[in-house]
Amino acid sequence: MKAVLQKSFGTADTLYLGEQSTPIPGPGQVLVRVITTSVNRPDIIQREGNYPPPKGDSEVLGLEVAGIIDEVGEGVDEWTPGDRVMGLVGGGAYAECAVAWSSHLMPVPTTMSWAEAACVCETYITAHLNLFQFPGIENGQSILLHGGGGGVNTAAIQLCQALVPKSPLYVTASEHKLERVTALGATHVIDYRAQEFSEVIKELTGGRGVDVILDHIGAAYLASNLKSLASNGVLVLIGVMGGVKAELNLAQLMVRRQKIAGSVLRPRPREEKGQIIARFAADVMDLLKDRQIVPLVHEIFPLEEVSQAHQLMEASGHFGKIVLQVDSTVAVH
Ligand SMILES: NC(=O)c1ccc[n+]([C@@H]2O[C@H](COP(=O)([O-])OP(=O)(O)OC[C@H]3O[C@@H](n4cnc5c(N)ncnc54)[C@H](OP(=O)(O)O)[C@@H]3O)[C@@H](O)[C@H]2O)c1
Repeated sequence: MKAVLQKSFGTADTLYLGEQSTPIPGPGQVLVRVITTSVNRPDIIQREGNYPPPKGDSEVLGLEVAGIIDEVGEGVDEWTPGDRVMGLVGGGAYAECAVAWSSHLMPVPTTMSWAEAACVCETYITAHLNLFQFPGIENGQSILLHGGGGGVNTAAIQLCQALVPKSPLYVTASEHKLERVTALGATHVIDYRAQEFSEVIKELTGGRGVDVILDHIGAAYLASNLKSLASNGVLVLIGVMGGVKAELNLAQLMVRRQKIAGSVLRPRPREEKGQIIARFAADVMDLLKDRQIVPLVHEIFPLEEVSQAHQLMEASGHFGKIVLQVDSTVAVH
């Protein structure tokens, strides 16, 4: 089968379309003929050599698939060849075929295009997990999201609008994305390059701060995030684009009873990931099926243009998701 391979860790230019043997599904697994997948920021970190796949998962990039079941492994009775599915994989989605655990897949609604189906799993499940499964936001609690034009955070805005419509939603973004983030449903958008976001949050919340922050910047934002967090608030860390090491004022943390939680989806145990996906499906699938939530497809690249797709994400030229079309014979729009 065709798969995206790498000459060595490094820039987007190291990626090329090559040949690899088709994987064989083991017990509890299925083989998916991939029609579309999408680019996620962790793919770039893996490409650079800093985010290896969990043991036993494919070394090929790609964390989510949308496609058709080709073969089912021993003990799989919930899926049959020909089923339309989307799901999470530990790796291997940038290829014509990928192996997935049967419990990590969901059906693709007939109302959803293949391009949209490629955008659901990694970003919406990450946002749902880290806002609604833990810490479990209640309708009316205030939220701060960073980088509102990206994959995870466009999904987070849409989920918050649908599931906690009374919650004030403060979102940081760069200047050229401010309008689109406002249109998507943010209560207030902060230009993170022009303004110190903690000052703006202080003013907007009358000095109280927000109840929950979803952050993927890490070290560079730790102090400002804690300044922006209310007493009893929770800061959920899902990325470290701004570094991994920072100083923390523990006294302030204690006095304000704030909590910091870290979370990564990919390396979690199989059963736990299955439960996370099942909870997501129960809460969100009907909204996707009825198109109350529509995944935001920024651009679709054929798989052979994977390097350009990565370069677009690195330049932050996208709003929402960048899709890779793996099977060029199928209409994906
Ligand atoms: N823990 C997990 O399970 C998990 C799963 C998936 C993803 N992630 C992490 O989530 C993050 C987002 O992933 P993604 O796929 O959504 O990537 P993405 O589409 O490239 O989004 C990244 C966003 O970060 C924003 N950004 C960059 N620097 C910023 C800053 N200083 N302040 C505020 N925003 C800033 C960008 O905004 P502008 O374009 O406006 O600059 C962009 O919208 C990554 O760190 C990724 O590793 C974690």
